[in-house]
Amino acid sequence: MPVESLPIAVLISGVGSNLQSLIDNGTGSTRIVAVLSDRPRAAGLLKAEAAGIPTAVVDWREFRDRDRFTEVMCEAVDRFGARAIVLAGFMRVLGSLAIKTFPDAIINVHPSLLPSFPGANAVEQALAHGVTHTGVTVHFVDEEVDHGPIIAQQPVPILDDDDVDSLHARIQVVEHRLLPEVVDAFGRGAISVAGRRVQWNSAVLSEGLR
Ligand code: GRF
Repeated sequence: MPVESLPIAVLISGVGSNLQSLIDNGTGSTRIVAVLSDRPRAAGLLKAEAAGIPTAVVDWREFRDRDRFTEVMCEAVDRFGARAIVLAGFMRVLGSLAIKTFPDAIINVHPSLLPSFPGANAVEQALAHGVTHTGVTVHFVDEEVDHGPIIAQQPVPILDDDDVDSLHARIQVVEHRLLPEVVDAFGRGAISVAGRRVQWNSAVLSEGLR
């Protein structure tokens, strides 16, 4: 266990169930110093406040372009002293400044087995395509959408009677376990990146994680 925990910012746009899983499971090696939202009414903001975590809104609608939005979001992250970012249901694409400012230190959770079904509506896309399995990907963010180096993945079977809601609910059960595990490993310095390949220090690998 590191002596000092890594300060992280969690970015959200909506419900914040993944944020709640980070709050509830703690991650030992990290501490959430801020929750930032691009939407003023994101329900996740209330979850942060209930946990005593400082919040701020960088309202997407107030910005002319992605670059300026990204700049202000990065300034907010920096103001709270965060050194890494977790995108937990954050529905905006950050510009390249964010990747330059926080290299290999922005983590996203996506509800499919990337590279299948990137972008919005990943659960709908998987159902429509007729795959037998979809799943969860936790990955580093790069300049392309849902594309950066993959840290961890876990499959979720698609059942005959699944609809978007039932499938997303089972995907979220996996997200809520996998994301805190990855964030904890990252905070311990157990994850490194070489090109697209992510290396884990086996000493901190939880059983069955990959
Ligand atoms: C999650 O399924 C996540 O994978 C996707 O958006 C959803 C956010 O859910 N990017 P929540 O706000 O964490 O409940």
